[in-house]
Amino acid sequence: MATERARIAVYPGSFDPITNGHVDIIERGVRLFDRVVVAILRNIEKSPLFSVDERVEIARRVFADVPTVEVDTFDGLLVEYARRRGATAIVRGLRAISDFEYEMQMALMNRRLYPDVETVFMMPAETYSYVSSRLVKEIFALGGNIAGLVPPLVEARLHERAGAR
Ligand code: PNS
Repeated sequence: MATERARIAVYPGSFDPITNGHVDIIERGVRLFDRVVVAILRNIEKSPLFSVDERVEIARRVFADVPTVEVDTFDGLLVEYARRRGATAIVRGLRAISDFEYEMQMALMNRRLYPDVETVFMMPAETYSYVSSRLVKEIFALGGNIAGLVPPLVEARLHERAGAR
């Protein structure tokens, strides 16, 4: 009998910082795929909150107990990375209709570039449907409470930074 290939999904993003919405999507992905590769984009963003290395370290710690989650970085075209990793799927979270247009455009463009990889959309729990890294950063910077929106490790790191300033 032919051995089945492992089903690998790539979950790409900036994850600056990783939120509980991302964590929720990764946990859902773990139930569907043999391996979920959290792929952190190495872009030259002007002012990231956390360096790529910190984001990798945080995500690895958050998923330290889940052997089927791998955290990696990529640059260049996402589909090239997915191809190199032998992924059959790209996972993206859809929070609201407002995400849809951008996500559909990316999914169709990625399909055109590399038809062998399928984009799979998943909806996070409703409690996270309004959570984004951008809002978390803004709320924290303005002194708001971000408990429950991000993993406790992210919250702790943010407080450490604020304390060091
Ligand atoms: O969730 P984010 O942070 O908006 O992620 C965007 C991401 C990383 C998925 C997207 O910018 C991307 O895929 N960048 C890699 C470059 C690429 O392949 N661009 C063409 C997309 S159609």
